[in-house]
Amino acid sequence: MSGLYHVLGAKQFDRAELDGLFESAKGMEQVAREGGNQQFPNKIMSTLFFEASTRTRFSFESAMHRLGGRVIGTENASQFSSTIKGETLEDTIRIISGYSDLIVMRHTDIGAAKRAAAVSSVPVINAGDGSGEHPTQALLDLYTIQKEFGRIDGLHIAMIGDLTYGRTVHSLSYLLANYKDVHLTFISPDNVRIPSYVKQYLDEKGVSYEETIDLAGIAKTADVFYQTRIQKERFPSPEEYSKAEGKYIIDRKLLDEMKASAMILHPLPRAGEIHPEVDSDPRAAYFRQAQNGLYIRMALVEKCFS
Ligand code: CP
Repeated sequence: MSGLYHVLGAKQFDRAELDGLFESAKGMEQVAREGGNQQFPNKIMSTLFFEASTRTRFSFESAMHRLGGRVIGTENASQFSSTIKGETLEDTIRIISGYSDLIVMRHTDIGAAKRAAAVSSVPVINAGDGSGEHPTQALLDLYTIQKEFGRIDGLHIAMIGDLTYGRTVHSLSYLLANYKDVHLTFISPDNVRIPSYVKQYLDEKGVSYEETIDLAGIAKTADVFYQTRIQKERFPSPEEYSKAEGKYIIDRKLLDEMKASAMILHPLPRAGEIHPEVDSDPRAAYFRQAQNGLYIRMALVEKCFS
């Protein structure tokens, strides 16, 4: 519906909007440190999650509470909403948008957030649509890079693991196209390579990238290592999954090869692809990254209501 600020995909963000959002997130860090404020006491957020989540749902709900608002919703929405009785997504959204001022939705299907936005009378935030996109994760990823490196322009960013089904990788690639002289290296097993539609977008935007299967080969040169989980639940068969799993593990040996200034990110959850021995190294930024999700999501909530 026109006039509403939805967050549906990463391509909707330009550099100016990203700069503004990061400035706002920085301010939200202070708000959170002070325990929150009462900016939106009369607003209600619905969280509608058809797929499991820890970070995204909790941080959005925490963001809303920190800003003085209230939250209603359901996890496991395919079981605990009337979807199980055959209600369409469109009807569910029409109903929920009458009960709340903002809908944060994670769904199994690519494009579900766009379908929701088309019938919603309130803003919709895409909290992950199948193997499509996860724009708010990519925003917090980028915020973490900006915050810790002090810049994004000119960085060499390696994305590792499940690049076919990895929705955060797709969204982050789109966001990085806003920056100057970034170089992307996509490292994956052969059966989960970066999709051609992502590469096509990078080509259109003139972004430099390469694909390889050799993680060790870029260990000394990359600035950011964006590790991802091989998502067992998205593979068509156990055989396909077994071809991809366990190939790339960040451990002490690899860490010793990396630049002193390097940064290791992971959207989490992890399932063995970063050894816990890496956690205590200052280059391991993934828990700080997850924390930044709160501040970015507070900034996004504010933007949806402004
Ligand atoms: N990174 C992320 O989306 O985590 P959750 O699945 O726990 O929300």
